Amino acid sequence: MKLFVLILITSLRFLQINSSASSQTFNVLDYGAVGDGNTEDTQAFLDAWKAACKSSNSKTSPIMLVPGGKSFLLQPFTLDGHDCKSTKTNIISIVIDGELIAPKDRWAWKYEGKECRQWILLKHMKGLVVKGSGSINAQGNSWWDLCTNEEKVCTRRPTSLILEDSDKVHIKNLAFKDSPQMHMAIESSKYVYIKNLYIEAPGDSPNTDGIHIQRSKKVSISRSSIRTGDDCISIGDGSYRINISKIACGPGHGISIGSLGKHGDHETVEFVHVKDVTFTDTTNGFRIKTWQTSAVKISNVSYNRISGTSRSKIAVNLVCSETKPCRNILMKDIKLESIIQDEEEKEDITSSLCENVVDGHKIGSVIPNVPCLKKMN
Ligand SMILES: *[C@@H]1O[C@H](CO)[C@@H](O)[C@H](O)[C@H]1NC(C)=O
Ligand SMILES: *[C@@H]1O[C@H](CO)[C@@H](O)[C@H](O)[C@H]1NC(C)=O
Repeated sequence: MKLFVLILITSLRFLQINSSASSQTFNVLDYGAVGDGNTEDTQAFLDAWKAACKSSNSKTSPIMLVPGGKSFLLQPFTLDGHDCKSTKTNIISIVIDGELIAPKDRWAWKYEGKECRQWILLKHMKGLVVKGSGSINAQGNSWWDLCTNEEKVCTRRPTSLILEDSDKVHIKNLAFKDSPQMHMAIESSKYVYIKNLYIEAPGDSPNTDGIHIQRSKKVSISRSSIRTGDDCISIGDGSYRINISKIACGPGHGISIGSLGKHGDHETVEFVHVKDVTFTDTTNGFRIKTWQTSAVKISNVSYNRISGTSRSKIAVNLVCSETKPCRNILMKDIKLESIIQDEEEKEDITSSLCENVVDGHKIGSVIPNVPCLKKMN
């Protein structure tokens, strides 16, 4: 009996020590959020964040919690990590199990000024995890017919979530729905890991890219399903070391680098790896889009083990700049056949375009044939 009590006490003490050293939870409901889908809960989110951020230090990993089973109506807001004290091992988490919604009618969005850049802005984060079983639904339908010169409230459609000037951020398991424009943009950030997202908007909604990356390095996007009206993933200038893998893309416009060099500007994108992607009902697969200027030079691109069907006749389109040709292009084991089932017609139906490619090679079987690539073994 004595022994039992002793064990009990020890384990209680152990528990206590454990809980004081671990995470403290800041539930938005405790900061006045209602979560009925009608009451604006923006201030409660800001207050819960402020408390979580303030409590962060080398010993705690605070959690800002958005509980499940509720819907939180939010005006455009910013969570700024500038004054948080998160470290490599003690990072702040935002757990979103509920639904975040924006005002359904675009006239009801409250903006200061007409530069309507985003709905949710996360900036200056140093060590942050955003995760949960919840969803981020901007209910963007009312924005999709906005003409850019219509300037009563906004001169452009906002992006749902922007992560900016941040370092070591994980975003995982969430669903994004119906953004007015892009669903997520990663800007001027590094070490960003995105996993298990589900992003969905109608295939005919305008510019609703899934994830856009700009001026960022060491970004990984994996195991996600993206179905939207524009690029599933797009990579803009100043981006380096981007890994994309295990993505189900479509409907949408595919995965793109660019457009680069619009005003003849010097813009760079380097070390992009895309693998294990399934495109379904997309207008394109992989694209590198550049303007016809001398500012952009494309080199060292390899296409490896790509197979499927194409609705358009030209399945491979390598149209490079006259002044700066594409260099060192490799295609290996490519099979893009026509979607047309007729066996007799099929062979001739897909074709390729190839202009201004130097040092282009092919290995294995490349269908359709790309005559400007030299055969290599
Ligand atoms: C990208 O992939 C390469 C090779 O698999 C790996 O070495 C690198 O760490 C990855 N980078 C990121 C940001 O995940
Ligand atoms: C392209 O590859 C060649 C060798 O295959 C290498 O020498 C060159 O530095 C590479 N260029 C870039 C921009 O990575």
